[in-house]
Amino acid sequence: MTLSLLDRPVDWGPADLVDLDRYPILNLDTGAGAALVAEVRARMAETVLCALPGFLKVSVVPRLAAETEALVPLAYRGPAEASPYFFNYGSGLESLPADHPRRRKTPRIMSQVAYDLIPETALIRRLYEWEPLAVFLSRALDVPRLYRCADRFQALNLSVMGEGGCQQWHFDTNESNITLLLQAAEAGGEFEYVPLIRSEEDENYEAVTRVLDGDASRVVRLAQEPGMLVLFRGRRSLHRVAPCRGKRRRLQSVLAFNSRPGVLGSHESNLLHYGPRVALFPRPQPASRAAE
Ligand SMILES: [Fe+2]
Repeated sequence: MTLSLLDRPVDWGPADLVDLDRYPILNLDTGAGAALVAEVRARMAETVLCALPGFLKVSVVPRLAAETEALVPLAYRGPAEASPYFFNYGSGLESLPADHPRRRKTPRIMSQVAYDLIPETALIRRLYEWEPLAVFLSRALDVPRLYRCADRFQALNLSVMGEGGCQQWHFDTNESNITLLLQAAEAGGEFEYVPLIRSEEDENYEAVTRVLDGDASRVVRLAQEPGMLVLFRGRRSLHRVAPCRGKRRRLQSVLAFNSRPGVLGSHESNLLHYGPRVALFPRPQPASRAAE
């Protein structure tokens, strides 16, 4: 099925992928475009997540999913478990009690295709590199400008989860996270989050511990559908992907943008998440550091 779909060439550009009738992102200054920006901003001001269902046209989603399926063999498995603060690579943790959330690890069963392994012709990459998307997201997130992440591995990722696949409870280090689901699991695989569980001043370890212990009373669930664009502020909101069930893989693209140009990830993080091949590349001197 996958191969026959990809056998048929298409001449779609990025603008052909987005449902511009529903999300008129090419004209944000007046009418429906301005209303869309205002609506997303209002939503992001009142909560930490804004979902735009049907951002991709229904007719293009199967092809983006098929292209991603074809890249699955290039996905790297990455760490099998991690703590909510997973970019703290173990330093100084010995002094904390064994049940401290910084020492608690939960399963991470997923693999990722790194940006440099996604062909330039792949539709999801063409969409990611399309300037009007960055402009729309910057307006929606109310920042002066967004730049695509400069990291050769992290900029755009395809996250792959099979049966039992999941992502551990964690916080992001970046302020905002943009995802676009391309294929849903047969069941499970919901995005779960606890809005603003911590602040810049208070880590609120007690509440984090309760969530890790299974308390779902403050957990919000988002049932994503393929083609849905999600804007999420995950720096202070604990979140995870619940276990996937069924044969069909959950395939999601993760689009990294920064408010500064030239942002790179850390070498250590890239080694962990994209594998030993990372060491084969020259270690770049970052103009600015991404979220580790
Ligand atoms: Fe995250």
